[in-house]
Amino acid sequence: MSQRTCLSVILAAGEGTRMKSAMPKVLHPIAGLPMVAHVVKAAEAAGSNDLALVIGHGAEQMRKAVQKFAPKAETFVQDKRLGTAHAVLAARDAIARGYDDILVMFGDTPLIDPEALRVERGKLAGGAAVVVIGFRPPNPAGYGRLIEKDGRLVAIREEKDCSEEEKKITFCNAGMMAVAGKHALALLDNVGINNAKGEFYLTDIVEIAGAQGLDVVATEASFESALGINNRAELAEAEGMWQARRRREAMLSGTTLIAPETVYFSYDTEIGADTVVEPNVWFGPGVKIAKGAKIHAFSHIEGATIASNCDVGPFARLRPGADLRQKAKVGNFCEVKQATIEEGAKVNHLTYIGDARVGAAANIGAGTITCNYDGYSKFFTDIGEGAFIGSNSSLVAPVTIGKGGYIASGSVITESVPDDALAFGRARQKTLPGKGRELRERFASAAAAKKKAAE
Ligand code: UD1
Ligand code: MG
Repeated sequence: MSQRTCLSVILAAGEGTRMKSAMPKVLHPIAGLPMVAHVVKAAEAAGSNDLALVIGHGAEQMRKAVQKFAPKAETFVQDKRLGTAHAVLAARDAIARGYDDILVMFGDTPLIDPEALRVERGKLAGGAAVVVIGFRPPNPAGYGRLIEKDGRLVAIREEKDCSEEEKKITFCNAGMMAVAGKHALALLDNVGINNAKGEFYLTDIVEIAGAQGLDVVATEASFESALGINNRAELAEAEGMWQARRRREAMLSGTTLIAPETVYFSYDTEIGADTVVEPNVWFGPGVKIAKGAKIHAFSHIEGATIASNCDVGPFARLRPGADLRQKAKVGNFCEVKQATIEEGAKVNHLTYIGDARVGAAANIGAGTITCNYDGYSKFFTDIGEGAFIGSNSSLVAPVTIGKGGYIASGSVITESVPDDALAFGRARQKTLPGKGRELRERFASAAAAKKKAAE
C-alpha cells in the first residue's frame, strides 16, 4: 500500500455559527491543537502524501493557522457553500494531478481514527472504486443512512430524503470517504442536485459508481471517530474523549496517573515510563518528560523539558523554555521560565527563575527572585555550579554568581560575584541591648495618656 499515492481532501468550509465565535469552527482546539489539525495528523498517519484543505468562512485566518500545523497543505476556497461534492471539487486541480487514493474527510471530526482510513485505503488497493466509513451512533437522527442490498452498499440517503422504512436503518455515514483517484473526477462531475436540501451531495457518488458497475464498499468505525463538532458542548465532549484515550495510553506505556481524570495532556505531551503524575496537573503544549520523574499535584507545565528523576511541584509553574536536567528539583509555588536548572540543582520554595542558568547542585533559597526585566528588555542571570543563594534574595540581571558563590539572605545583588566569594547586599544588623523594653514602656505610657485625655 505504501507505494500507492494518496491525496487527502479535508472539507473545512463550514459556517460553524453554532460555536458563537469570531474564530472559524475548525480552529477551535482539542488538547491544544485546532480540531482540523487533528484531522491532518490522522491523514498523515494513514500515509497521505499531499493535503488539500477546502476553506470558506474566515479564509485569511484559516490560511495563517494552516501555515502552522500543515505548512505543506494547499488551500482551496469554496466561495459558495453548495454541498459536500461541490466542496471536494474546489480541490479539482489537486485531484487532477492524479493519485491512486483520494481520501475525503471533514475538518470538524477530530477524533477520526487513522486505522479506519488505512482500512479504506486497503479496500481501494483491493479494487474498490468508492469506500464509505459507516458507524452506529446511539441516535441516528440527522445522519445519512447506508442503504445496503444483498450485502452491498447501493446508496447513502440523507435523513431528509429517507422514507419511514429507511429512517429505521441504524448504520450511518460517518462522513469520511475514499475514492479511487482514476474515477474521482468523473464520479464527482456526475453529481447533480436531487435532494431536499438542494445541494451537491458527495454521498451521491455511491449510486453513480454502482450504476457504472464499479465496486462500492462500506467499512465500519467507532462512534467516537465519527463525532462531528458543532457547538462548544460537543467540543468539550470530544476533549473529554481525547483526554480519556491519551491518559489510558500514558498508563499503558508505564506512567502512573494517580487520578487520571484530573490530568490534562496536550496533543504533543511526551512522558516516560515510571514517571508519577499526582492529581490535578495540566500539561500545555511542548512538554517532554523523561523516565522516573515525579510531578506533584496542582502543577501547570508548558513548553518544558524535564529530565529523568526530576521532582516538580506541588503547585509549580514551568513555562516555555524551562529545562530541568537530571534530578533537578522545582518545588512549591516556584515559577521557572526560559531557564536551565542543571543536574541536582534545587529551586524549592516560592521562587522565580527567569532567563537564567542554575548550575549543577546549586541551592536556591526560598523567595529568591531573578529580576530579569526592566520594563523594556530581558536580561540573563548565570548562577554557577554549587552556588548557594540565601533566602529572599533579588538577583538583578544581568548578573553572574560564580561557582560555589555564597549569597547572604535578603541580599539585592547588582554586581557579579566571583567563584567561591561571599556577598552581602543588605544593611548590617544593629542590636541595642535593653532598647526593646524601653521602647515598649514609652509606647504604653503614651497610649495611656491619650486614653486619659479622652475621658
Ligand atoms: C454529512 C453527510 C452525511 C453524514 C454526516 C456525518 C453529505 C451529503 N452528508 O451530513 O451523510 O452522515 O455528514 O457527519 O455529505 N462542507 C463544505 N462545503 C459545503 C458543505 C459542507 O465544506 O458546501 C463541509 C462542512 O464544513 C463539514 C462537512 O463538509 O465539515 C459536512 O457538511 P455538513 O453540512 O455538516 O453535512 P451533514 O449534513 O452533517
Ligand atoms: Mg455535519
